[in-house]
Amino acid sequence: MTAIHTRTANLVVPALEAAVRAPSPHNTQPWRFEVGEDRIDVHLDPGRVLTVADADGREARLACGAAILNIQLALRAAGRACAVHLLPDRARPAHLATVWLQGPCQVTPEDRAFARAVGFRRSNRRPFTDRPVPPWIRHALVRAASLEGASLVLLDRPADLDELAALLRRAEHLQAEDPAFQEELRRWTAENGHRDDGVPLSAGGPRPAPGGLLTLRQYPGGEERPARPFESDPLVAVLSSFTDVPLAQLRTGQALQRVLLTGTTAGVSASFLSQPVEVGATRDALRDLLGGEACPQAVLRFGYGFAAPATPRRRPECVTRPRRRQPEEATR
Ligand SMILES: Cc1cc2nc3c(=O)[nH]c(=O)nc-3n(C[C@H](O)[C@H](O)[C@H](O)COP(=O)(O)O)c2cc1C
Repeated sequence: MTAIHTRTANLVVPALEAAVRAPSPHNTQPWRFEVGEDRIDVHLDPGRVLTVADADGREARLACGAAILNIQLALRAAGRACAVHLLPDRARPAHLATVWLQGPCQVTPEDRAFARAVGFRRSNRRPFTDRPVPPWIRHALVRAASLEGASLVLLDRPADLDELAALLRRAEHLQAEDPAFQEELRRWTAENGHRDDGVPLSAGGPRPAPGGLLTLRQYPGGEERPARPFESDPLVAVLSSFTDVPLAQLRTGQALQRVLLTGTTAGVSASFLSQPVEVGATRDALRDLLGGEACPQAVLRFGYGFAAPATPRRRPECVTRPRRRQPEEATR
């Protein structure tokens, strides 16, 4: 890595390698990093926020929250504590976080397992088997969200699942009929091996066979694939925050990543069903389904699947630069 010459490079470089493995909508990777001696600053890259699907940058902040958690986990696994200051500068809302490196910490087996899982977590859009996710893992997923200040509700009642499926169909239909949404989706769908961002064709799943409950996002180019039956009794969950301000979205991004990694370490795959949270009307209805208080941020599907391919990333050195002192620091 060319950009980082600090004395903490041995910690910072693996932390940034972990950061860029975070999930992001259409694999936009909407982050930039600045590195100082004892800190990593995380910034939103506004040029990589989806202008149609995510006009207010909510999903981009979820993705950056996930990247922040990956940094924390990598530092912990290397035996270094850190303190995270979210939105540290009101005057610069794109400055999402500063992660301060602190003293040594005791590394637990869970720290190591989570840090390792960052590298093999995938969004798995393929059908899952009908093997149910056991109660202890379901409990662990819910707990992972609450540890990061969010809430994960598993849609266990068939009526709730049916209602979610109806919202999913409605939102998918609206997005399929929206030329601007489809054009944006096309721009972020990549041929395999040609780009270091976007969703490669190999990562898209098959079309669900007729009669299936869930509607997965269809990426352009996948139409030729034969339709396949998906799991008959899917495990679907809604991740929510308690408010919908940028700070809560970042916290929910951390929760999202802790939930996904909890699944990964237990051998459970996940994929996103974001359509109903991206469309205003269905998002309101989803909120009502959850009792009217929570702010839905992501819909996830969990299960046992066959391995999904890795998606590409921009290298950390392409998204990182040394931290420049702010003007007000220079005058101090
Ligand atoms: C906030 C958010 C929303 C997403 N929504 C969807 C979605 O609706 N459908 C989907 O197939 N993938 C969705 N994804 C998954 C991304 O496309 C995926 O993270 C990205 O392509 C990188 O691949 P990976 O997760 O396998 O590393 C979403 C990811 C994030 C963070």
